[in-house]
Amino acid sequence: MTYRIGLLEGDYIGPEIIRQAVKALKACGRRFGYEFELVRLPVSGEAYDLYGEPLPQSTVEAAKTCHALLKGPFGGPTEEINHPKWAGVEAKALLPLRKIFNLYTNLRETKIYRPLINLSPLKPEYLENVGILIVRELVSGIYFGEKGERIVNGERQFYDVEAYAESEIARVAKVAFETARARRNKVTLVAKSNVLRSSALWREVVEDVRRAYADVEFDYMHVDNAAMQCVLNPAQFDVILTSNMFGDILSDEVSVLSGSIGLFPSASLNGTDFGLYEPIHGSAPSIAGKNIANPLSAILCVPLLFTHTVHDAKAAAAVDAAVEKALEDGYRTKDLFRDGDDPEKLLGTEEFGDLIAEGI
Ligand code: IPM
Ligand code: MG
Repeated sequence: MTYRIGLLEGDYIGPEIIRQAVKALKACGRRFGYEFELVRLPVSGEAYDLYGEPLPQSTVEAAKTCHALLKGPFGGPTEEINHPKWAGVEAKALLPLRKIFNLYTNLRETKIYRPLINLSPLKPEYLENVGILIVRELVSGIYFGEKGERIVNGERQFYDVEAYAESEIARVAKVAFETARARRNKVTLVAKSNVLRSSALWREVVEDVRRAYADVEFDYMHVDNAAMQCVLNPAQFDVILTSNMFGDILSDEVSVLSGSIGLFPSASLNGTDFGLYEPIHGSAPSIAGKNIANPLSAILCVPLLFTHTVHDAKAAAAVDAAVEKALEDGYRTKDLFRDGDDPEKLLGTEEFGDLIAEGI
């Protein structure tokens, strides 16, 4: 079968790491019998240079014809934050992309790789049995709520509204319970129901959805406590179900348990086979073009694509296995390299990508 994959390479290290993901995709195609038609879709900085806008309609229309999108990070250097090319690129390109495709579920899984355990900020004994999947709501809440400014008592006040509809909560909650069944069978809802009305609704709706999943263990945690528990006792979590903003914050926190945010892919889904697959980190201008970026966050998007778009668990497992083998064999990119590691096994972005493709 042929799959049409839209490549939104993004900025700075984006093209370098997406190229490595494409190598892994093609290697899987050869081994498992898939054709991939790859379509480059200009977006963010590249689209701004070409068309003066970061998410041109032509890119959106072409993306709609794809089975899946593989996306690199967007954004420019901090010094250029106010340059029209980069200012508000998140609100002008990334959030609309999520909204246009109604990608209401964002999956971010923290896995601990044994060979990298020394990179974790936590002691090894805290990392036993850690595997956390954050199911983050992605197209509503404070990111998309009413925003504005007004004068109150003679001074400017800016505001962003956190609002959730019952149906928006219920659909992502179902995904969390379904996903938990295929894992360790536990869902923790994280919100702030002691203060926020919208969180009280999350609790009510999730309690209701939960009735259809009596076999799945369920608990509730306030977000401040959850942030603490993620470092105090991360092994207690299996699936964390949470809102857009809390999911954004907690996913950065738990990603570093594994040692580097450079290892993290994510899947954004809408209940069909379509998916947007992207690393969770930024575009890292300071290391771009030096062949030192860690391509694993992009390469690990490939197993997610095989799982959620192609529905081929074997192909997904082949990529995961090739990554684990490379790490076990001692291969490292610069960010993962420490004193005592074998300098002969310190690889550049391209070479690491080649190694994984060969492994597949
Ligand atoms: C993420 C990012 C985005 C978000 C930014 C770039 C808008 O931090 O995907 O986690 O907040 O969702
Ligand atoms: Mg984030």
